[in-house]
Amino acid sequence: MNLNDASALRLASLAQDSLKRELQPCPLARRGLDFSSNDYLCLSRHPDVVQAGVAFAEQYGAGATGSRLLSGNLDCFEALEAEVAAFKRSEAAMVFCSGYQANASALAALLDKTLWHGQAPLVFADRLNHASLHHACQLAGVKQIRFNHNDMNHLADCLSKHAHSDQAKIIVTETVFGMEGDQLPVGTLAELALQHGAVVYLDEAHATGVWGPEGRGLGALEHPAIEALKAMGHWVIMGTFSKAVGVSGAYLACSHALKHYLVNRCTGFVYSTAPSPFVVGAVRKALAIIPGLEAERQALHATAEHLRAQLHTLGLNTGLSSTHIVPVVVEQAANSLALKAHLAEHGLVVSAVRPPTVPPNTARVRLALNTGHSPETITALVNGIQQWQGGLHESH
Ligand SMILES: Cc1ncc(COP(=O)(O)O)c(C=O)c1O
Repeated sequence: MNLNDASALRLASLAQDSLKRELQPCPLARRGLDFSSNDYLCLSRHPDVVQAGVAFAEQYGAGATGSRLLSGNLDCFEALEAEVAAFKRSEAAMVFCSGYQANASALAALLDKTLWHGQAPLVFADRLNHASLHHACQLAGVKQIRFNHNDMNHLADCLSKHAHSDQAKIIVTETVFGMEGDQLPVGTLAELALQHGAVVYLDEAHATGVWGPEGRGLGALEHPAIEALKAMGHWVIMGTFSKAVGVSGAYLACSHALKHYLVNRCTGFVYSTAPSPFVVGAVRKALAIIPGLEAERQALHATAEHLRAQLHTLGLNTGLSSTHIVPVVVEQAANSLALKAHLAEHGLVVSAVRPPTVPPNTARVRLALNTGHSPETITALVNGIQQWQGGLHESH
């Protein structure tokens, strides 16, 4: 069998289970009715952000021209990293071209046994962690000890079971889960980590800009256990510039010592061209704007509360959501595709999220709210969902 035949066969089997994906065009004009984008603060089209990107491209060029260890270490990267460290209240920061790259390569380097006297660390990972976090564990060749989603009692049990191990312990989780829309109990996690001498690696992709003091993320909350972990270099935060920041790329907020190690040993940093100066200019402007958007953040959280209440009135399941990400769990993959298609007929764009992105029988339509959604748009969305629900009942 040749490669084309093999690909076609694999696609046919995915289609049979309603799991085949297709790229769809995304007309710019539809943006107001779009519940699929992660542009939570609508910064991707903010004129000051776009202009700052253009100004940096004009000054530094469209591309960084090389890896930062070779030709690409422009002063704008150093400035951005200092600003990210100030924003996250960390000692140091590093920037990457994407969140996937940051997780896959920086976490893999952190898990590398050569960092831990040749003994692979024990990795405690939330069951619903993002694919890039799993990828890092695979790359590092470590086995994950999976704890039930956001279940700090289960995590405590797992840590206690290994209390006498002399292997390093690393807890890997997210602060806002992108498909569930729920939040990590950050303080409890920090206390557990401190008690067990563990390092914490947190993914703040969906929290950055939207949650925590001035949108700095939940990892920036003031808590004595967090301060103690930071002092040991055990509080490692990753986040993206691709969601609420409205641009692309990612950061790691960590200690100076870890940064210096990663500059040497993180393959995604060493062997990859640095981000475009356009990205650096746009991100720096967005980071300067974000702390001042408190009223917008409060309005976004209120809209999410209101939407969840409306969906619950219809008897729908919004899972564990407590944030601006609101899943409507419809269980079967075919249902999620049907609801997405129904809403598209009304000009409303949503994402159908199916296994393996989410566990079997938890397919959903993911509603990602942003500060540009008007009350009328939310009403149109709820009406569209109710109409689909009516049709579903009629067809049974
Ligand atoms: C939790 C989480 N981490 C990492 C990423 C990857 O980020 P990026 O899209 O910047 O590669 C995503 C985005 O899908 C995500 O949801």
